[in-house]
Amino acid sequence: MSKNYAPKRRFVDPDEVSHNTSNNDSFEQVLNRARMGRRGFLKGSSSLAAASMLGTGLAFLVDTVKHDGQVATAATDLRLSFAPVAKSIADTLTVPAGYTARVLLATGDPLKSNVTPYKNNGMDNDFEVRAGDHHDAMHYFGMNQAGNGWDANGVDRALLCINHEVCEDLGFVHPNGPTNYGQESTSSRPSMEIDKEVAAHGVTIVEITKQGSTYQVNQNSRYNRRVTALTEMEISGPAKGSSMLVTAFSPTGEKTRGTLNNCANGYTPWGTYLTCEENWAGYFHRREADTARTEKEVASFKRYGIGNATSGRYNWSMADKTNTDVYRRWDTNKTGSTPTQDFRNVSNTFGWVVEIDPFNIDVTPKKRTAIGRFAHEGCWPAKAVAGQPLVFYSGDDSRNEYVYKFVSTAVWDSRDATGGIAAGNKYLDAGILYAAKFNDDGTGEWLPLTMNNPKITSYASYTFADQADILINARLAADAVGATKMDRPEWGGVNPVNGDVYMTLTNNVSSSSGRGVRTPLNAANPRYYADAKGSTVSKGNVNGHIIRWKEAGNNHAATTFVWDIYLFGAKVDASPDINLSGLTDENDFSSPDGLWFSEATPGLLWVQTDDGYYTDKTNCMMLAAIPGAVGDGGTKMVTNKSVPINNNADQTVMTRMGQQANPAALRRFLVGPRDCEITGITESPDGKVIFVNIQHPGENSESATDPSKFTSHWPDGGTSRPRSATVVITRNDGGKIAL
Ligand code: FEO
Ligand code: CA
Ligand code: CA
Ligand code: CA
Repeated sequence: MSKNYAPKRRFVDPDEVSHNTSNNDSFEQVLNRARMGRRGFLKGSSSLAAASMLGTGLAFLVDTVKHDGQVATAATDLRLSFAPVAKSIADTLTVPAGYTARVLLATGDPLKSNVTPYKNNGMDNDFEVRAGDHHDAMHYFGMNQAGNGWDANGVDRALLCINHEVCEDLGFVHPNGPTNYGQESTSSRPSMEIDKEVAAHGVTIVEITKQGSTYQVNQNSRYNRRVTALTEMEISGPAKGSSMLVTAFSPTGEKTRGTLNNCANGYTPWGTYLTCEENWAGYFHRREADTARTEKEVASFKRYGIGNATSGRYNWSMADKTNTDVYRRWDTNKTGSTPTQDFRNVSNTFGWVVEIDPFNIDVTPKKRTAIGRFAHEGCWPAKAVAGQPLVFYSGDDSRNEYVYKFVSTAVWDSRDATGGIAAGNKYLDAGILYAAKFNDDGTGEWLPLTMNNPKITSYASYTFADQADILINARLAADAVGATKMDRPEWGGVNPVNGDVYMTLTNNVSSSSGRGVRTPLNAANPRYYADAKGSTVSKGNVNGHIIRWKEAGNNHAATTFVWDIYLFGAKVDASPDINLSGLTDENDFSSPDGLWFSEATPGLLWVQTDDGYYTDKTNCMMLAAIPGAVGDGGTKMVTNKSVPINNNADQTVMTRMGQQANPAALRRFLVGPRDCEITGITESPDGKVIFVNIQHPGENSESATDPSKFTSHWPDGGTSRPRSATVVITRNDGGKIAL
């Protein structure tokens, strides 16, 4: 989601509202832990196991592994070669000297040669054939020479799959801003506006071709298409056909329409795209009078933040056309006598991972329910190993939510690499979904969310009927097993050099309830922030951190792991209590969000920010890193300055962290234009071209129509409305990026 807690925002960001009222890691436990102090860390019964697993991790640091048939360079051999980019609040995109960034595809740009150029004045109504809004995650799928299928090494032409998370709340896509917007509005909205917003959400699939050193869109490609919040989707996996998914559109609970809030992503070893549904919960209309719901339904709505006095983020159910189920489907009230007569269950059809086959335009996208339903940020694959299960990592991006992983039942057979979506049926529809528990002693456990787990079947707060119920209500299931509340999990990734798994925890602050937030501290989420000793408020963990873990035996299907905190975000001039990683001018950052390991350059990590706390000094940014390995930095006592919520006593938490941030191994590569976030990155297979998304420049503008009130005019300049865009970055000497 955009906007961390900027004051001018139109809506409260749904991911900043905590709906986790479970007792997992309660504040009382936190206080007890704080009293335990140093004794709590690495003194538990599993400390010996932790130590031995750490040894394994260090061994991997200096090891080399096979990657795509080649011997990869050890991470320690990589050297960042570019000059760090300075922090900036200018309305421009800055890349290092010797690099060039070009806009490839911005909001509204045509996907077909017969579509007119985007006017960018709100008058274009055909987003079904244009790039959507709010570019987010994306992935490069190389194409074979024949131009009819996937080739992971294809450099000359490729399909780019781009997520479009939302439609700018300010209404830049409308001539005069949106009509009758707002979650409390009771007036109808012009259906034409709704249609445009629905079509600006979803995914773009577009062919790009190599032109000299860079790439251009091929507007004549038959593959160019949009998947939107209206596209028909199949429901697949254990929840398919569940009574909880029955709607007037699908009396058998086997399909739905649309994908929403496509934030981060994933991709499969068979060349399909995984797009993930994040903040879908805010889109549904529920009336205060929607009270005739079962206790379980109410518990589920509450846990997912679907209020009973909201018309939804964009009021899409309130079209001026009545009795049209294209709009009525956003109304999740119980209005009919049976679930086949209304859309009371429709919100259960969102929150999933959706598989799209970019190379087969005839295949209906599939919602893969085995991977669970939550504010699904992404779905990142571990390396596929023949004869082993496939493993995908996910985060639930909301305050105090959990980290998950999915382990397939089927073991990998490389002959399925050409299987397309049929391979998805084999690997993504059956398996075990786990939620993560990060113990204070530096170990961790994966807790299975299945009917075989007594903690699920004996859970007092919610009676799970079956596996479909567990997956539809994965948050409740993770509550039941005692998963660890985290500081808003965003992107994850697996280091191809040593198998370490990374995940950004972007921050943990609330825009709605002010900054006096009780953050449930634990060793894996060890800080809140107060400006100074004696500060009257806690601001929560405003700068975020990046956690990482190593699975036992470096086996991604393992059920235990060891973890540390790779980096803590902070301002360079913050006190050492806050700038725990020793960030410098060359690499200080706040609120990490996007994170991705290069495959062309194993060991090279990219970190992107979506920040609302360091905006006086810098716009959002992207950094390049050569990380070490879990366990390379030792233990650290984190001291949180006193605030009234903990009786004016400093609160200390022992944690484990990575090495101090040396500019040689972490430096700023890019700074975006004003009020944007940097999110989404992919690359050409030779590592010489990267693609980066700039989302919502100018989002804090105070008008959608008066250029003097825009905070950004990027990328078109002049008095133009700002637009999200994919940029292509190359090195002027034709070399590999970053090295
Ligand atoms: Fe859409 Fe979690 O950022
Ligand atoms: Ca974010
Ligand atoms: Ca975002
Ligand atoms: Ca994000």
